[in-house]
Amino acid sequence: MLTTWCNDLKLGVPEIDSDHRHICDALDALYEQIIRGGSPAELFVRLQEIADIMAAHFSREEQMMHDLRYEDAELHLKNHYEALRILSAMVFDCEINNKRIGDDTLMLINVWTMEHINNYDKPLADAIILENMNSIIGGSRGCVRPVREYYI
Ligand SMILES: [Fe+2]
Ligand SMILES: [Fe+2]
Repeated sequence: MLTTWCNDLKLGVPEIDSDHRHICDALDALYEQIIRGGSPAELFVRLQEIADIMAAHFSREEQMMHDLRYEDAELHLKNHYEALRILSAMVFDCEINNKRIGDDTLMLINVWTMEHINNYDKPLADAIILENMNSIIGGSRGCVRPVREYYI
């Protein structure tokens, strides 16, 4: 199952979009390894890489939420932690129990990623874009000045 990046996934915040593209590329690389019959060791390296990329990305988003004083941060963070917990268990299974990564593992990460982008990252990106618009027009945090103020 390919997770190929497409413009539908773009949220309009370059740092987030670039990270998401990186995640999709890493998932595609894992898929290629599975199809080519990569060894458990090779698949483990790919899975570990995905876990590292996701952890770094989550930290970046969490810093953005902190800076923004994002009101839905708690639920979003919980979803990140849950993903890291599941990914860590997969990495452990692969490394210690020598479990071979298959399509089922990839499908799980893929579905989680798409749902997370749509349900959690999209509202965050919208809030960042709104905040940026507010700062450009000089309004205070979370409050767009009424247009008529500019004509008084
Ligand atoms: Fe997120
Ligand atoms: Fe994200």
